[in-house]
Amino acid sequence: MNAPFRYRKLGYAALTVTDLERSLHFYRDLLGLDLVERSDDTAYLRCSRDHHNLVLQQGRVAGLKRIGWELENPAEADKAFEHFQRRGLEPQRVPQAEARALKQGPSFRVREPHCGLEFDFYGSTTVLARPYVSTVAKIARMGHVVIGTTDFAGTYRSLRQDFGFAESDFVEDRFSFMRCFPNPYHHTFAIGASDANHLHHINFMVSDIDDVGRAWHRMTKAGVKIAFGIGRHPPSGSVFLYFYDPDGMTVEYSFGMEEFPEVGAREPRMLEPVPESLDTWGAVPDAAFGKTGVIEGAVP
Ligand SMILES: [Fe+2]
Repeated sequence: MNAPFRYRKLGYAALTVTDLERSLHFYRDLLGLDLVERSDDTAYLRCSRDHHNLVLQQGRVAGLKRIGWELENPAEADKAFEHFQRRGLEPQRVPQAEARALKQGPSFRVREPHCGLEFDFYGSTTVLARPYVSTVAKIARMGHVVIGTTDFAGTYRSLRQDFGFAESDFVEDRFSFMRCFPNPYHHTFAIGASDANHLHHINFMVSDIDDVGRAWHRMTKAGVKIAFGIGRHPPSGSVFLYFYDPDGMTVEYSFGMEEFPEVGAREPRMLEPVPESLDTWGAVPDAAFGKTGVIEGAVP
């Protein structure tokens, strides 16, 4: 099924953190993002020329606030707005002042009704003249966000049919790797069946395998607990390392990912529901891996 509108990429993730200063140190100094702008309660960080790829907002409960999707152009954003209206998902225009603060063009929001996650859609964003300069790791881009949902079937159906995501690989009735068509990357979003609606992890792709190895030592030295890895994901072929942010939310670095052509892409493959589907090297995830972080606005 072709998507009803064309995505460009995963634009940003907005996280609520309980101690902005502490999280800022982690995401800027240990993870390697560039702080673009901040106020008392909000910080905008980036790993590209975009104004931001991660928004940190001070709050009481740590979690995933929202995900922003950049569409190919403003006409696609108009098309998407009408599409969501037709599907009865009641898209809401983002007030101009807020869209301006986010340095986005006209934007709207839609809540996926099963997992409760809010998505931001926009057809243009502000690009900074000053390039992103890597510090501790050569971050290539914000890679993906993964969530757990209590209604896997409902969320899956809605993401495929209403949000237009293409599927790359899956574990039957339990997990789906999705790409925001026609963006080529194996997955920019993924969902897993869970007993709560929650953030599983956010990912940053690095452009050198040494970045993954170095991160293990850097994080360990800084007292950051490793959640899973180093390992290699069989579905995407990525070499990965997961660790915890100061609130215990899981963050991933990974290197390498399959890319799909817009036309003639291979069919999604079914993965076996065994640990080897997660890692080919035998790493065992920590007990709290992918567990911390509410989805704001969702039933927990
Ligand atoms: Fe991941």
